[in-house]
Amino acid sequence: MHYRFQQGNAEIYWGDAIEVLSTVIPDYSIDLVFADPPYNIGKRFSNFLDKWDSEESYVNWCQQWLDLCIRKLKPTGSLYVMCSTQGMPMLDNHLRKRMFILSRIVWHYDSSGVQARKYFGSMYEPILHCVKDRKNYTFNADDILIEAKTGSRRKLIDYRKATPQRYSSHKVPGNVWYFPRVRYRMPEYEDHPTQKPERLLERIIIASSNLGDTVLDPFSGTFTTCAVGQRLGRQTIGIELQEEYVRIGLRRLGIQQQFGRDVLGAPDKHYVQLAASPQLSLFNDE
Ligand SMILES: C[S@@+](CC[C@H](N)C(=O)[O-])C[C@H]1O[C@@H](n2cnc3c(N)ncnc32)[C@H](O)[C@@H]1O
Repeated sequence: MHYRFQQGNAEIYWGDAIEVLSTVIPDYSIDLVFADPPYNIGKRFSNFLDKWDSEESYVNWCQQWLDLCIRKLKPTGSLYVMCSTQGMPMLDNHLRKRMFILSRIVWHYDSSGVQARKYFGSMYEPILHCVKDRKNYTFNADDILIEAKTGSRRKLIDYRKATPQRYSSHKVPGNVWYFPRVRYRMPEYEDHPTQKPERLLERIIIASSNLGDTVLDPFSGTFTTCAVGQRLGRQTIGIELQEEYVRIGLRRLGIQQQFGRDVLGAPDKHYVQLAASPQLSLFNDE
């Protein structure tokens, strides 16, 4: 069973991803899927504990929704999948037989919380970028260029060229991406244990979809994918199991400002920002 909410270019399904994917979403209708599932590492998502009986049952579950996502994609479609560092090899093994894996991306971040003291703590999460057709897929390289920090910044000249010229100042990002995790003081912060940064989704959505395309997120959480997709003029479909997070999505996407009798409000942050105080930042690009 599921509930549907819709307003303009945004659609939310409150229900189980496998059920909604198999009963509602038409096959070959989606341009881009971004899937950020539970990682089977024991996190609590509202009323749901992210822990399966065995690794095998977790992988079986992942294979079911992965196959459905592939079926929902248009022939030109792209799929980005996140997973834990230990779970990703099994998803990679499944996907490489069904799609073309173009990039194995590392989302690297800082760690402000408790750090491992007896081993090297994980500072990244892997993301697979897969396409159905290696010769026909969307990749808007010119729209995601970043500053080239080597030769061009130091104004080096490339003397290997017939006519010596400056190194280009911009480049397509490589497969190691640094984006800070979402922190409490960021305006985009919502109350969810694994909210993904808007900047991460911006890069993915701009690169792999066009204006008016349909973007689907089967494990929406705080609906970051849909919020960014909506801002970028995409049609968005988000699925989420937990009422607490569906409420966030309804507000964040401007679908409803009330749920039953409850007014849907942004997180109530208990700090005061003084007008004159500068934003503290650990890194230059934050
Ligand atoms: C890793 S989080 C996604 C976070 C999201 N990318 C964001 O930026 O907020 C995974 C989400 O999947 C939801 N979930 C777990 N099982 C699900 C299921 N069977 N169907 C749909 N959603 C589910 C959880 O409640 C959780 O919010």
